Amino acid sequence: MKNALVTGGSRGIGLGIARELGVSGYRVAIVATRPEEACPETTRTLNEAGVDYAWITADVSRQGDRQRIVDEVYSLFGELHVLVNNAGVMAKERCDILDMTEDSYDYVMSINTKAPMFLTQLVARRMMEQPLQGAKRGTIVNIASLNSAVSSIRRGEYCVSKAGVSMITQLYADRLAPERIYVYEIRPGIIKTDMNLKVRALYTEQIENGLLPIGRWGMPEDIGKAVRALCSDDFCYSTGTVIDVDGGFHIRRL
Ligand SMILES: NC(=O)c1ccc[n+]([C@@H]2O[C@H](COP(=O)([O-])OP(=O)(O)OC[C@H]3O[C@@H](n4cnc5c(N)ncnc54)[C@H](OP(=O)(O)O)[C@@H]3O)[C@@H](O)[C@H]2O)c1
Repeated sequence: MKNALVTGGSRGIGLGIARELGVSGYRVAIVATRPEEACPETTRTLNEAGVDYAWITADVSRQGDRQRIVDEVYSLFGELHVLVNNAGVMAKERCDILDMTEDSYDYVMSINTKAPMFLTQLVARRMMEQPLQGAKRGTIVNIASLNSAVSSIRRGEYCVSKAGVSMITQLYADRLAPERIYVYEIRPGIIKTDMNLKVRALYTEQIENGLLPIGRWGMPEDIGKAVRALCSDDFCYSTGTVIDVDGGFHIRRL
């Protein structure tokens, strides 16, 4: 039995990842700020798929909560094979970078960047003590964004936070490879979730007008399937690798 921890698993991309890992036989610990009782649709989705899961209500931006998450996961599961750093937030308000507030910057950085940096640190220390399972001790997947590399001047703090996630991927991939813990990064493109509800119509129009080579919205399961593949034993000579799951958005076109 393999066990996975997915932050932000209550909805959107995180739920897509939890579901895909769950149907592949992982026990999944889901972290969200809201308690499970507040997310009946999520409970239904996971139960209908037959996923064996536990729910940890916590705020990943808080140091004490991160420690509690790791303690609870190890007391529930004994071992952890997969960490998916997925929880993330958008800028408080999409506005010109010249009007960005320090409050929004700190908020986004604390959840999107500081949390994966230090949650990974706590998890890695525990994973290193585990025996090898198959070809590795563990897999860590960071959910970054196309904005790791693409400028969007109406959500500058979000872009900075995701560029930081990309360096976190490189640093831990480098540090943990000798421990046989492999670290990957997925850069989602435009994925249909609550995060982009406010710009749904705008993105739909842009997609219809040819923005993406694969001309459709991305769905949470597109990311879930990519995570599942990276967590298998099929990428054991790769670490620090970035996978764009973005409908081909990253291709420069003329
Ligand atoms: N959607 C996209 O197009 C897109 C594109 C590129 C990258 N991404 C990235 O993909 C990840 C997931 O995005 P999404 O679109 O699925 O977002 P979403 O639908 O807004 O879901 C966000 C998830 O993160 C959780 N969360 C937020 N703050 C948290 C905190 N402080 N502690 C613990 N959990 C927290 C939420 O929990 P609650 O339910 O309790 O609020 C929820 O489960 C994010 O890192 C995002 O930046 C998304």
